[in-house]
Amino acid sequence: MSRKLTTLEIRNAKSAGGPPLVAVTAYDYSLARLVDELVEIVLVGDSLGMVVQGHANTLSVTMDEIVYHTRAVARALRHAHLVADMPFLSYQACAEDALRNAGRLLAEGGAEAVKIEGGSHLAPTIERLCTAGIPVMGHLGLTPQSVHAMGGFRIQGRSEAAQEKLLEDALALERAGAYAIVLEGIPAEAARRISGRIGIPTIGIGAGAGCDGQILVMHDLLGLNPDFRPKFARAYADLAGTVREAVGRYAADVRARNFPALEHSFSGVATPEAGASKDPRE
Ligand code: KIV
Repeated sequence: MSRKLTTLEIRNAKSAGGPPLVAVTAYDYSLARLVDELVEIVLVGDSLGMVVQGHANTLSVTMDEIVYHTRAVARALRHAHLVADMPFLSYQACAEDALRNAGRLLAEGGAEAVKIEGGSHLAPTIERLCTAGIPVMGHLGLTPQSVHAMGGFRIQGRSEAAQEKLLEDALALERAGAYAIVLEGIPAEAARRISGRIGIPTIGIGAGAGCDGQILVMHDLLGLNPDFRPKFARAYADLAGTVREAVGRYAADVRARNFPALEHSFSGVATPEAGASKDPRE
């Protein structure tokens, strides 16, 4: 399992007819290392603006920040395919901006593909990136960078016309060269219909079980934020509780002088010549 998955393998996973693709976000080395062998795709999402930085939305995330986190995650991955999000305004103004910024995510960040939010109006940009050898994952439906245009984080594609437009957009993205598309926050039947009509994998989040894969934000999956339990996510752990309990016990031990104990302490004036380790972690 330790070989790197390629963009081509992700793209072909749908026609190969295997189980749904599994994707998760990650933003740092340690967690990425833990999940590397368990999933097919790791996304350095601009959701980091919310779950790592504490902002109300993703709009303030910068290219430098995505590059920084992508680098850390890239160091951890030996198996999973690494996608980096293109942040707000890094690709919307023109295709040349998009090319330069996407190139940074591959060259400086170590990403293997980039993800951009938006429909058929971005087809020329996707073509430009693909022509330059940069694989592109699309993102349709509830596109968080359009939070103000949508009037909040609202489910999209509720009307017949909106579902038709989503399908047109998905087909346009596929024609432009996208190798996969995230479908976020749309009715399950719309996502199933789109998934049945395009040849590239759809990866759903809040889009029902009819997609060709699923993605969750790591913090939602691990139950790291007790104040945010979205309907579309399942928390597979209660790490918020675990962290509080562990740090609470540590704090109590320190206050009661139960930590550090003898086995955590050093004594004497040992020298390397006398066989003592130079590394206090050993
Ligand atoms: O930024 C992100 O984490 C995402 C996923 C929710 C798909 O775009």
